[in-house]
Amino acid sequence: MKVFVALVLLQIYLYESTDGFEFKHHDNQELFHVLRDVNTKCRNITRVYALNEPSVLGIPLYVIEFSTRPGRHETLKPEFKYIANMHGNEVLGRELLLKLADYLCESYLNGNPEIKALIKSTRIHLMPSMNPDGWQLATDTGGQDYLIGRTNNNSIDLNRNFPDLDRIVFENEEENAVKNNHLLEQVTRINDPLQPETRSVIRLIMQIPFVLSANMHGGDLVANYPYDESRTGSQKDEYTATPDDETFRYLALAYSSNHADMANPKRGGCGDVDSSKFAKQGGITNGAKWYSLQGGMQDFNYLSSNDFEITLELGCNKYPPASVLEKEWERNRKAIIAYMWQVHIGIKGIIYDSETKQPISGATIHVKNITSGLSNDIHHDVTSVYGGDYYRLLTPGTYKVTAFKEGYLPHSKLVTVTNPSYTEAQQVDFALKPLPISPFIQSDNYIESKIDDRYGSRNQDWAAWAEEREPILEPIAIA
Ligand SMILES: *[C@@H]1O[C@H](CO)[C@@H](O)[C@H](O)[C@H]1NC(C)=O
Ligand SMILES: *[C@@H]1O[C@H](CO)[C@@H](O)[C@H](O)[C@H]1NC(C)=O
Ligand SMILES: *[C@@H]1O[C@H](CO)[C@@H](O)[C@H](O)[C@H]1NC(C)=O
Ligand SMILES: [Zn+2]
Repeated sequence: MKVFVALVLLQIYLYESTDGFEFKHHDNQELFHVLRDVNTKCRNITRVYALNEPSVLGIPLYVIEFSTRPGRHETLKPEFKYIANMHGNEVLGRELLLKLADYLCESYLNGNPEIKALIKSTRIHLMPSMNPDGWQLATDTGGQDYLIGRTNNNSIDLNRNFPDLDRIVFENEEENAVKNNHLLEQVTRINDPLQPETRSVIRLIMQIPFVLSANMHGGDLVANYPYDESRTGSQKDEYTATPDDETFRYLALAYSSNHADMANPKRGGCGDVDSSKFAKQGGITNGAKWYSLQGGMQDFNYLSSNDFEITLELGCNKYPPASVLEKEWERNRKAIIAYMWQVHIGIKGIIYDSETKQPISGATIHVKNITSGLSNDIHHDVTSVYGGDYYRLLTPGTYKVTAFKEGYLPHSKLVTVTNPSYTEAQQVDFALKPLPISPFIQSDNYIESKIDDRYGSRNQDWAAWAEEREPILEPIAIA
């Protein structure tokens, strides 16, 4: 009898501890059910929301958020996002993100120290499908076509539909214009009409102060980093570095080197000549060096916001059979988690008014690389957000970091970055002294006052810009 009871208890235990996640291709309704179930299991660390416009065919674009305080930005807590299935027929990322949502929840509940530390220090947003309509078409037609289901239902490739900010930054560079970030307000013309899926994601990018993200695709096996668009317009083979090239390579390598196979130099490519080179260069590539594209989401993130984004090509087969999904999860799991931790590299801190102690949002953080005698300005600034908090991803090195805002004296600090694993970024705060009313009083540092002149009249606080817009973060009523 006792044995029997124990067996029953064991069975109940086994039943309850099976998390119920099934590896398969989840349809658009099942996708929502997985998110809903995770939210039910992990109610106080998750929230499910939909972007403010659905797809062309009316399917909501769902996101699940993980945070110890879901629903809000917390000062000094960096925000991360993964978006998958932007090309409807590239489906692995969609299933990986559904599994990831379940895994984060289960690991948190089971007390996995690494995942608990990650969720406590990071706000994570997972959007399994940006193109549910394309997914449906690809699935209904057997899923094996290279193109069917790639676009949204208006036949627009969403990864060509973002405003082309690369052209603007390249022109700014040529004219030695100082503006090198938050370029959306310089857009004067849009090639194709913005699609609802694109508009929704643009708002997401403008509304939430993301620091790091990745965009999951399929058709090759490589971590691709900006720029995707070449400077000269050349179709391929033109390495087009951003000012943060070193950091982007570091980020891309964090994924590829933790993937089972991506960085393995002995593996084959996916057929074409470029693809066979990727493994030999660590499983990473500059986007434009591979092929140039305009209107992509990756470069848009970098040039419109403080976010750094890379594009992950997760395998040769765009629509792998359900039977390999579990194996693919195992091949990607370490990389998926390791990449999220990269949101904590570099430095972060609070910019505040030295007299009132009030946080200053919309301040600019400029970095000069002074490692081993170098003196290289990184011509891509980040800005402080709602709580005066800023996040500056950096590779190990020594930097002179300057914070400034119109009406204040600029302030610089020397910082050595080492990026220890599984640790939050080093905190470097700046107390800015309000400028005296008299215009004749000069900054005590000539160089810094020059920087201030160059940037002083530059614009507005993007957070205010985003806040003017109606909230997109509609919580979903979950029964
Ligand atoms: C979630 O709720 C449970 C039960 O009320 C509580 O023990 C736990 O500490 C909560 N977790 C967080 C992150 O608030
Ligand atoms: C749009 O959706 C309809 C209905 O599912 C489908 O028949 C049609 O092929 C789709 N068009 C495109 C371009 O995806
Ligand atoms: C700064 O320079 C050092 C030495 O060249 C390099 O290792 C590091 O990656 C650079 N940092 C950035 C952010 O470019
Ligand atoms: Zn793709």
